[in-house]
Amino acid sequence: MLTDNVVIAHRGASGYAPEHTFSSFDKSHYDMHADYIEIDVQMTLDGEIIVMHDETTDRTANLPGVIKNMTLKEIESLDVGKWFNEKFPEMYQEAYDGQKVPTLRALIERYGKANYYIETKAPDIYPGMEERLLQILNEYQLLTPERLKNKQTVIQSFSLESLIKVNQINKDLPLLLLAKKGVLRQMTDEDLKKIHQFVYAVGPNIKDLDAPLIERMHQIGFLVFPYTLNDEVLMEQLINEGIDGGFTNYPDLLRKQFRKDDSEVFE
Ligand code: G3P
Ligand code: CA
Repeated sequence: MLTDNVVIAHRGASGYAPEHTFSSFDKSHYDMHADYIEIDVQMTLDGEIIVMHDETTDRTANLPGVIKNMTLKEIESLDVGKWFNEKFPEMYQEAYDGQKVPTLRALIERYGKANYYIETKAPDIYPGMEERLLQILNEYQLLTPERLKNKQTVIQSFSLESLIKVNQINKDLPLLLLAKKGVLRQMTDEDLKKIHQFVYAVGPNIKDLDAPLIERMHQIGFLVFPYTLNDEVLMEQLINEGIDGGFTNYPDLLRKQFRKDDSEVFE
């Protein structure tokens, strides 16, 4: 099931390999059997959806650049693996040097009918991003009634407006609302119940989470998948307090904490 003890590989197994690269996704998907591949998406100047966290290239490509002003060809020339080897020499692997930014299409072509947790990142600076994203997912048969019922393709965002747009395009798509510290606490039960009419889960910041907040979200009807759950002590504590799953850079460790074995791999 994808509603219980859910392991969402945050940017792949990004604690072990450069985030948002095939090396990171291969590890989380094939080696660690995470339930979901988690990605952030951005859009290039020529309208291609790419898989990347930042709106700029500085951090992971070590070159100045703004994605929305760059063409796909320019993005494809970037090396987004080298920084990881330099920053984490203890995890150095030759193959990480030269890793490329995947397009959404290339990602889907590589992992096929895997389960995807897709974040519309900075949707306000990419007008039309939701339409483009859903068009591609549809093209690859990732929006079939069966997959949506099983929550195998999920859209997540910090932007409620972006989730509303997605819901207007496809009312059956499972949605998760990400929430920065304090956001859920400031919302009334009435507001949250309205959101729950089309959003099945919330993704609170781990720094904001405690048993009463988890209980309150469950009372309203949400599943609770916090980000980013990397510390084993905290994993154990929050599991005991009732979380339903979580985003993690270490899918192997979260699987272990949930005591999942390979018979529980959801294909
Ligand atoms: O999508 C969950 C988590 O990834 C949200 O934060 O900044 O890592 O995308 P961020
Ligand atoms: Ca994300």
